[in-house]
Amino acid sequence: MANDNKKPACTRRELEETNFLIRHVNYKKQPVSVIIFAFEESTYAYINNCMHMHRPLNCQQDAIFDETGKYLRCSMHGFVFEPKTGECQSPVCFGQCLQALRLEEIDGTLYFAEKHLTLSD
Ligand code: FES
Repeated sequence: MANDNKKPACTRRELEETNFLIRHVNYKKQPVSVIIFAFEESTYAYINNCMHMHRPLNCQQDAIFDETGKYLRCSMHGFVFEPKTGECQSPVCFGQCLQALRLEEIDGTLYFAEKHLTLSD
């Protein structure tokens, strides 16, 4: 059972009904948006900030995956990322990673398991 310190992100059911969700939180005292998605049975959350030019992955279109569904893709210039690690696979930023946020699932609800994260009002 969740206690008062848990920071709910979404429910598993919400994720099953969409390709991704966006949540706005404070991380290390900065307001950020977060992408949350399910991929190959697991769930992932990353700060929605492409390291190339610091744009949200969905800045140009309402999508965060490429046409194959195997890679995350920034819609600004098309850089792609491994969904499981957030590692960029495109030459300019190869090896750099999106900032991952840990999730914990309890009874069908996903919670942010990050000490330096607070929910936005
Ligand atoms: S800002 Fe993401 S690929 Fe350029």
